[in-house]
Amino acid sequence: MLTEINQDLTLEKLLLKLQFSLYFNKAKGSLNAVKNNSQTTEFSPPSQKHQEILKVLQKRLAESTEFLAGYPLNTDYDYTSLIPFFQYHLNNAGAPRELGNIGIHTKELEQQCISWLAQLYELEAEWGYVTSGGTEGNLYSIFLGRELLPDAVLYSSKDTHYSIAKIARMLKIPHVVINSQPHGEIDYEHLKQELLKRANHSAIVNLNVGTTMKGAVDKIEPVVDILEKLKIPFHIHCDGALGGMLLPYIEAAPKISFQDYPIGSIAVSGHKFFGSPIPYGVILTRQEYTHKIKNKIEYIGSHDTTITGSRSGLACLFLWYAIATRSQQFAQEVLTCVENAQYLYQRLQKIGYNPLLNDFSTTVVFDKPSLEICQKWQLATEGYIAHIVVMQNISRMKIDLFIQDLLA
Ligand SMILES: Cc1ncc(COP(=O)(O)O)c(C=O)c1O
Repeated sequence: MLTEINQDLTLEKLLLKLQFSLYFNKAKGSLNAVKNNSQTTEFSPPSQKHQEILKVLQKRLAESTEFLAGYPLNTDYDYTSLIPFFQYHLNNAGAPRELGNIGIHTKELEQQCISWLAQLYELEAEWGYVTSGGTEGNLYSIFLGRELLPDAVLYSSKDTHYSIAKIARMLKIPHVVINSQPHGEIDYEHLKQELLKRANHSAIVNLNVGTTMKGAVDKIEPVVDILEKLKIPFHIHCDGALGGMLLPYIEAAPKISFQDYPIGSIAVSGHKFFGSPIPYGVILTRQEYTHKIKNKIEYIGSHDTTITGSRSGLACLFLWYAIATRSQQFAQEVLTCVENAQYLYQRLQKIGYNPLLNDFSTTVVFDKPSLEICQKWQLATEGYIAHIVVMQNISRMKIDLFIQDLLA
């Protein structure tokens, strides 16, 4: 199991590191001259009225955070050591492994995070970057799949996140929706039938490493088996927004391994398991594929290999800090969430709320309670069901409070 940011640098990464330090030494020399010539804007403190507005906003946010239970956001974090960095604009525009013209980046830390995640998913020749969120990771991967296999049809289950259908529409890729089993996992037999109908087309298959509503895991192995037996060229994308960081730490869980399976990519959200004051995500793929999305741009002095231009260097800093300071306790964090999810499941079962808790998941689904409770606890709902995603901030005390509300 991984414990800390990987220090084993390959030759390529060593060269990158050397490039970074040369760059910074050169930049340091000219910094004073630039400072002396800079224009200074006068900043006055916020007026009484504006302070009042900020106070009201802060109060509402504090209350909402306290009772946020329906969405997979880890609000239990402390990034106060990073406050000094708020004075800089941190922008990782351009290719994640190229310096480009813009020096105000955190790309060296970003690459350390990518290497750490690559180890977690047993990906040797990795490529990746910090995205704006899970949706951008999905978009990058399906775009990549389409560039690799231009004739491909996209397959995903009914329980898939809504971003996938939107991406199919944006990229004008034919999209086939596969039935889900009642607990949310893809119906492998239906997938096989639909693939067979289009056996003369390549396939991009989106697999959910934890569906949005029920936390069900689509298994990689049976899907690879089907595709290989049918001899259909494929690109498998694992949407591991939350589960991508749970499964590696759950003993009996299926492995997410680029070494064991011919998967093409995985997307993980940053604000979910890692926790962050701003949304972000990570996309990881095999380096050999990425030449398909690469365009030299003189303006930034780098290749354009990502979806957005400007990218948040601050998000990379949050991710790096989370891994650097907490990675040794990630396994314990996952275990506590799993145990607390089981506790919530048992308490709901006792009071007749028909709970469902999938294997390898911390998402507890149950009968939709009153509107008042849904609003107070900001529950995600779908038809007659609701769920709570047990994250690091959902303690047993909070679960007890929620059950008290249901019984009141
Ligand atoms: C399975 C899955 N994929 C993708 C996303 C989208 O993530 P984001 O909101 O970071 O774009 C979510 C969000 O909940 C999700 O549950």
